[in-house]
Amino acid sequence: MTAVLDNKRAGKAKAGRPQVNDRDKTATRLLGSSAKNSFDPALDIDWDAEPVEGLWHMQPERMSLYGTALWDSLSEQQRIELSKHEVLSIARVGLWFEVLLMGMLAAHAYDQDPASPHTQYALTEIGDETRHSVMFARWADKFGGSDYKVHPVVHTLGKVFRLVAPTGPSMWAGTLVAEELLDRLQRDAMNDDRIQPMTRMVSRIHVIEEARHVRFAREELVREMATAHWGPKRYFHRVLAAAAAGFIVRGLISPKVYASVGLDAKAARKAALANPNYRDTARWMGEKIIPFLEDVGMTNRTARAIYRRANLMA
Ligand SMILES: [Fe+2]
Ligand SMILES: [Fe+2]
Repeated sequence: MTAVLDNKRAGKAKAGRPQVNDRDKTATRLLGSSAKNSFDPALDIDWDAEPVEGLWHMQPERMSLYGTALWDSLSEQQRIELSKHEVLSIARVGLWFEVLLMGMLAAHAYDQDPASPHTQYALTEIGDETRHSVMFARWADKFGGSDYKVHPVVHTLGKVFRLVAPTGPSMWAGTLVAEELLDRLQRDAMNDDRIQPMTRMVSRIHVIEEARHVRFAREELVREMATAHWGPKRYFHRVLAAAAAGFIVRGLISPKVYASVGLDAKAARKAALANPNYRDTARWMGEKIIPFLEDVGMTNRTARAIYRRANLMA
């Protein structure tokens, strides 16, 4: 909340005397970090490298069927093949949300002073997300392409979210959920030598650059929550952010992935949703962001019920 107070003080400063507020201080730091520590996946990833025989594409313990009878029925080779499809499905959801986020950030920047570090950082983040989306698309293409786009209903709801969320704090809260859930998976994957080098490099690039996005969104959310009015608007945004989180978590693994190893999509999806290990994984993914949303006041009874249903909260 100190950030909010600093901004208020800066706003009361004498006219004509430029003040560096807390918002711009953060943005200046993030712009410096972006200049020093950014990647170009087109050059920084060896796209010609072939997958290494016997290595996983994601951590088996984080896969949707791990620990189930269906998992036991698969050979090691099938499990590794499924890991490729699950990680590409997750990346496709990440790409879907990144494209939405780019639209929201552009709309946010449209209303701001382009001379401010805050606006310049928002524009820089759009650049990061552009490179990430191309990286995810190219990664999927490298492994034979994938048809794991989000469900058509979720695709349409995404368009609504892109228009409605920037009217309040759910833009930042929804962004944080998408970024921080993925971050937990990728942070572990990038340091695990059981994982394919390409997955590790994609994860590393994403983790390093997303850390800035998370800082930016967390601080913006705190500011928005301090100024948002009580009443229907606040209720609406709390529920909207939770609904977005629910759709993201439920959509991470497309039922189509199971066909890649000869499993029935419906039966495997059912087993995944009932899998206690996969539920624990969802909770683990939400372990950092959900308490933060609670702390800043982004939850209410309805939102908590949605987070629980999505297994993001105990
Ligand atoms: Fe990203
Ligand atoms: Fe991001």
